[in-house]
Amino acid sequence: MTKIALTGIKPTGIPHLGNYLGAIKPALELSQTCQARYFIADYHALNSCKDPAAIRQMTLEVAAAWLAAGLDPEKVLIYKQSLVPQTFELLTMLLAFTPKGLMNRAHAYKAMLQSNADSGKDPDDGVNMGLFTYPVLMAADIFIFDTDYVPVGKDQFQHVEMAVDIAQSFNYNYGKECFRIPEPLAQPSAQTLPGLDGRKMSKSYDNTIPLFLPEKQLRKLIMRIITNSQGMEEPKDPDNCTIFSIYQNFANPQQIADLRQRYLAGGMGWGHAKQELFEDEQRLSSHARPL
Ligand code: ADP
Ligand code: TRP
Repeated sequence: MTKIALTGIKPTGIPHLGNYLGAIKPALELSQTCQARYFIADYHALNSCKDPAAIRQMTLEVAAAWLAAGLDPEKVLIYKQSLVPQTFELLTMLLAFTPKGLMNRAHAYKAMLQSNADSGKDPDDGVNMGLFTYPVLMAADIFIFDTDYVPVGKDQFQHVEMAVDIAQSFNYNYGKECFRIPEPLAQPSAQTLPGLDGRKMSKSYDNTIPLFLPEKQLRKLIMRIITNSQGMEEPKDPDNCTIFSIYQNFANPQQIADLRQRYLAGGMGWGHAKQELFEDEQRLSSHARPL
């Protein structure tokens, strides 16, 4: 039987290279062999963005990014999460099968607690219940379409594993397979792509390189990538460098080996490395690569 693949992206900003690498590209590859359902997670966005106009605009941006990256709407179902209201009915049922302790362990929630603790705030400052139960809504998204595979970046892996736990506990309770057990899929080489400041590239951190930027803006952003203060002549470590981390995910093997060599040899300034990255990303931005 044809397997079902499903994934979502929140409309909280313009999709970026991290979204492309972690979700869009693997999802489009899977759509060649699976029945694919890809959606824009507007209710997930509501946890952090309360402005309807912004969510509407970003929903269009995310849809445009999927299409520009090669999604064929004749073959792939692309939809907005809020247009499947049964998802929210299912969410309510799933909440009754989700131990609070499971949600306490979610990395994203724990990171917020930690950041509140670091800045001396109340542990739950800024945490709404939508954010706390975020993985349960993901589980509802996944189960409603009998999903087999969920292509996501590494940061979302744990949420899909939680969906597995919830499905198992539901199935166990009723003694039958009410929900299909989903499998999170990350690229074997999957890593979290760093952003301009070296942290995870994320719409939440304002450190992204958006997809399909005009040449000038793309160049300006790439030139903003933070590097250390090593001078031009010094040999540089490609494995501890944001520029190289991004480059190696998009350039071809020969280009990657060449740039690695130039790092190690010395005599190459950060400006040169950024220029190499710019030229490579320009190729990706200026013409999407339909599969
Ligand atoms: P963001 O963190 O920018 O808000 P989303 O949470 O909407 O992005 O993520 C959509 C998809 O893109 C998810 O599958 C997520 O794992 C993936 N993704 C997001 N950022 C990155 C990154 N920096 N590297 C790899 N994959 C990423
Ligand atoms: N939470 C995911 C993210 O921020 C988006 C998402 C919502 C999702 N529901 C999903 C991804 C279901 C996979 C499956 O990236």
